[in-house]
Amino acid sequence: MARAVESLGKAKELSLADFYAAEDPDLFTKAERFYSWVEEQKKAGHYVARRTLLSASGPRAVIQDPWTGKPREMVMMATNNYLGLTTHPKVVKAGIEAYQKWGSGAGSVSLLAGTLELHRQLERKLAEFKGCEDAIVFPAGYSTNVGVIAGLARPGDLVLNDILNHASIVDGSRLSGAYVKTFPHKSVQALDRLLERMSPRYNGRLVIVDGVFSMDGDIAPVPEMLEVCRRHGARLMIDEAHATGVIGETGRGTPEHFHLEGKIDIVAGTLSKALGGVGGFAASTREVVEYLRFYSRSYMFSTALPPAVTASLIAALEVIETESELRARLWENIRYMREGLTDLGLDLGESETAIFPIIIGDDWKVKEMTRLLHEDGVFVNGVLYPAVARRLSRIRLSLMATHTREDLDLTIEACARAARKLGIIK
Ligand SMILES: Cc1ncc(COP(=O)(O)O)c(C=O)c1O
Repeated sequence: MARAVESLGKAKELSLADFYAAEDPDLFTKAERFYSWVEEQKKAGHYVARRTLLSASGPRAVIQDPWTGKPREMVMMATNNYLGLTTHPKVVKAGIEAYQKWGSGAGSVSLLAGTLELHRQLERKLAEFKGCEDAIVFPAGYSTNVGVIAGLARPGDLVLNDILNHASIVDGSRLSGAYVKTFPHKSVQALDRLLERMSPRYNGRLVIVDGVFSMDGDIAPVPEMLEVCRRHGARLMIDEAHATGVIGETGRGTPEHFHLEGKIDIVAGTLSKALGGVGGFAASTREVVEYLRFYSRSYMFSTALPPAVTASLIAALEVIETESELRARLWENIRYMREGLTDLGLDLGESETAIFPIIIGDDWKVKEMTRLLHEDGVFVNGVLYPAVARRLSRIRLSLMATHTREDLDLTIEACARAARKLGIIK
């Protein structure tokens, strides 16, 4: 399709960071400037945000093509539905039955009248799944991190974050009022030095890492970090968003992967990715969980999960426990895809799991590659500055257990064509 790329002019150089603020007395001015830029992006075929799905989120999805307005089937390489559980018959059946028995909503925040027996079952199951004494369930993964960190840490405390931690961890840390500092990605030595130097000046110390990092798909060195935390009297919290259902011998995530069940102070995560629903959880000691129920504002002041979602999540945990072949298929797909993309000469960073960054380091080429892949029927997302440093801008793929060999081959071939055209590979 003919694209007015030349017409972009200066717009080509701009990023989201350029519209964050405007020195203007009218608050809306920045939105209006942003809107004009978005229009330019659309003309260039670079606006692929919010492509609308007309089918369930599966390995193939029918979307309404933003370029033609018509339905189109694409290979879906951008969902976190790692095990395909959103459409698993047992998960769907449990949701329908709960809908019929419990109705559409929980009717209240959990602490008052919104705790259904289903919620207690889900909490118990999550606690057992993560090897902890108890668990608390939040309306989202985002509000879990915000609620747990701001629920526990106070001004006078110290929160140390890996530089690549998810935005919800960053936001929760800021909101807590604690002193917040980041350490270089996965650097156990830097963490050690920071704790050594800063611990005497603060009350409580909390160290937070993603178990599996959301943009790079690599795994945090949790055993070494735990040892450093223990030595300095700091508590360790891990975010299991992309680890649950994916890593560990039986899919129980990072604690199981490292044989550290019951040893990590706080195991948080989302229920929206491999578990196929929505919501988040934090598992810990019974004292900490009870404390969070009364001090996490995003839990206290937000209505409990709907019954249908809760029942589906319980079923999803059961499926993970009983159908290990799903995870085996996901890992077969991960190996096949890694080999295919690596053979092409693409840079996959340090990816170890179902998330594949194809690092390009040029925002313009990332947008063009996303456009070319869309043209070829492959749905991916570009990750650009300021979400990552410019030299690390990338295409991000995520794999599902339910992708077929044909889906993977189509994706590898489309990546090869696009990357050659853009001079990323020979
Ligand atoms: C590492 C990480 N933590 C937390 C979240 C937030 O989870 P949710 O989408 O369930 O709010 C996400 C993704 O969205 C994530 O990637």
